[in-house]
Order: sequence, then C-alpha cells, then structure tokens
Amino acid sequence: MVIYRARVFDTPDNPFAGGRLRSASDIALVVDDGLITSRTDFDTARTAHPEAQVVDLRDGVLIPGLVDTHVHLPQVRAIGHLGKPLLDWLDQCALPEEAKLGDPAYAEAVAGEFLTGLISAGTTSAMVFGSHFASAMDIFFSAAEKSGLRITSGLVTGDRNLPDALLTDVERSTEEGQALIDRWHGKGRLRYAVTPRFSFSAGPELLAAGGRLVEENPGIWVTSHLNENVDEVAGVAEIHPEALDYLDTYDRAGLVGRRTVLAHNVHPQDRELERMAEAGSVAAHCPTSNSALASGFFPLRRHIEAGVRVALGTDVGAGTGFNLLKEGVQSYFMQQLDPSGGVALTSAHLLYLATAAGAEALELDEVGHLSVGKRFDAVLVRPAAGQPLDVGICNAADDADAMAKIFAMGTPADIAEVWIDGIPRHP
Ligand code: GUN
Ligand code: ZN
Repeated sequence: MVIYRARVFDTPDNPFAGGRLRSASDIALVVDDGLITSRTDFDTARTAHPEAQVVDLRDGVLIPGLVDTHVHLPQVRAIGHLGKPLLDWLDQCALPEEAKLGDPAYAEAVAGEFLTGLISAGTTSAMVFGSHFASAMDIFFSAAEKSGLRITSGLVTGDRNLPDALLTDVERSTEEGQALIDRWHGKGRLRYAVTPRFSFSAGPELLAAGGRLVEENPGIWVTSHLNENVDEVAGVAEIHPEALDYLDTYDRAGLVGRRTVLAHNVHPQDRELERMAEAGSVAAHCPTSNSALASGFFPLRRHIEAGVRVALGTDVGAGTGFNLLKEGVQSYFMQQLDPSGGVALTSAHLLYLATAAGAEALELDEVGHLSVGKRFDAVLVRPAAGQPLDVGICNAADDADAMAKIFAMGTPADIAEVWIDGIPRHP
C-alpha cells in the first residue's frame, strides 16, 4: 500500500457537459495493489494506514495517464516530413518506411522506440495503428505486454493503392488476423483491433473480411481513417461507388459500432456524423497531423452537436510527436482559428480530451481520472526548477491557469514519472 501525497488535477466531470477542472493542492491518494482505494487529506490517510509507504509528489502536478487514441507503430522514424498533403506523404514518406518492418530485427527496434516514445510522453493507454506485417505485430504485442501499457492494436490491411510489400488479400488477412486475435486479444492489458488502412486502399471484399472477424470475435475493436483529406475522400467515392459516403464503406462491412475509432473526420457529411453518433463510434482528433498535412480544421462543434464522441490522437508520424499536451494546445489553436467557428476550449477541456475522453472512447473504465475505484495510471509533471514551465506553474493565477501552462509548454522533458496500474514505468 502506498500513499501518494500530491497536487492533483483531473476531469471526472465532462467539461463539454458543464464539468470543471478538479484540482487539489495537497491530497492523499491511497493505492493498494494498483487500485485507488481512498482519496482524502494526508492526515486522515496516514492515520488510517500508519504502515503505508508515503511518496511525496507535491513538487510537481499529478495528472491522469494520457490516452492516445490514434498513433502509428511503424512511423516513429517517419515523424517530421513537412510540406506534403496526405496521399503524397503516404507514397513518399510513410509507406516506404512501413515496408521496412518486414524485417523482424527492424520491427523489434521500432517497437522499442515506439513504446519508449509513448511512456516518455506520459501516455499510458493507446489505440495503436499497427503494421502490415503479422510478424511485426507479434513482435510489437510481445514488447507491449512487457511495457505494461494498455494497448489496443492490430494488423493493418490493404489490397490496393499500396507498395506491393504491403498488400494482402481476403484469405491471408483473415488467417493472419485470426491467429493474432487468438494469441493476443485479452492477454494482460492487450486487445485486438481490426485495422483496414483506409477505404482508399481497401476494397469492399477486404473490408467485409474485417467485418467477419469482428462478428466472429466479439469484443475486438476496429480502427481506421475517415474523411481526412479532400482528394482522399474523392478517391474513396470512386473505389466504392456502392457506398452512400466514406463512413458507409465501413458500415456496409459491419465495421461501425461502439468499439470503432476513426481518425480525423475533418470533412464529414451530416449523415456520417448522425450515423457515428447512433453507432457510438469515436472520432480520434489529431490536430498536429491535420496541421502538418494541411488536411483542414476538425469540426469539433459539429461533432459535439451531433453527439459524436471525440478524443485526442497524436497520429505519429504525420503528427509531430508523442506529446499529447502539444496535441491539446494545437487543438486549442485550431479551434480559435477555424473560419467556420470553433469551440472555445479551456484547459479543462484539453485535459479531458487527453485523458477521460480517451479512456471512455477506448472503454477503459478503470482509468481516465484519479478517483476512488480507478487504477492508478498517473503522470507526474515536474519541470526542472527555474525552467519557464516551472516558473509559470509557480506563478499561475489559479489551477486552471497552471493546467493551461502545462499544455502550452509541457514536453516529455517535464514528465518526471509515469505509473501504470500503480507501477512506475518511466524509462
Ligand atoms: N490514411 C491512411 N494511412 C494513413 C496514415 O498513415 N496517416 C494518416 N494521417 N492518414 C492515413
Ligand atoms: Zn493515422
């Protein structure tokens, strides 16, 4: 049993529905075998548990573990190519890099770099867009299990508009997918997600094969891309003339449900938003990626008004890194600049999007905020003394202001410790 004495910020109540930042300057979280059993003042906790180890974290700010709902495993080494729209970026930057993961030694190295990137940034749960190679997925799942992270991921599939080395077909994708599900889904904190790359590189038969895996393996997840770029949307309409719209390409295949996370949705039709809301599907909002690829402004207001669940993703490597704090502040910038009228986001909205919203999106009810009954997934933000973020936190007008400064200035260098299920995991 451990008593964490800390300054704690979290968002148990959704700020998009009237909730506010919950902040406490000196509170005790009693953690027993990874479970938060009490949240009280320090003296009460000490008296109740005189034998417990005490960890004093009051020189930093403790926030819930961050949740990344869209991040690509094979793109760690592809971060930072600027100046290309989506389809050129895929052809020239991302896909040639992804082809290298056919080599198991390369895949092993990348898996390590990827998991280090997540944990160093304070990410404790993620929906991970995997590799096109089943061998690379075995390597990744094995490394992810050891890391302790809460990871949902799967084999990426496509049967067109990809380099030859990345192509698959109905039979092979079904066999490889089922074998990976059998080996990894439900093992420790791992779960499987059927992952067609996008409907620009998957025909109706391949998408339907994914739908059959979902039907035959209740509880597995689905992730893909949706309405990211206008040229992509036009291409998808040509490849899928039978579909009502982009979302319908997935829906017809049985891939749209409550356990479906679709990245971007920058250019949705109203019908698609209505259908996502009805199905309970999630939009993974990836603001640095949308900026880097000039994909457009994410219509957050339309998603909220339609009742579509939204959480944050880094979209490494079109996104510019693993730092979800940066995604938060970039979302704030873009909402301010959106000519069609964005949402005025506060630091509470940003923390919610990066933590509780992601946990709800991935149905990880056991995490998302630091309340009694949750598992202790937490991040200690503690900038070096005298650094601008440290000075900013010390001189903040109030806790919401301090939280805003963490989003504005926070980097992995400011993350001093990361716990997953009560175990320190910072590299
Ligand atoms: N659409 C299909 N593949 C990708 C990808 O790797 N990154 C992004 N941003 N969009 C995609
Ligand atoms: Zn992506």
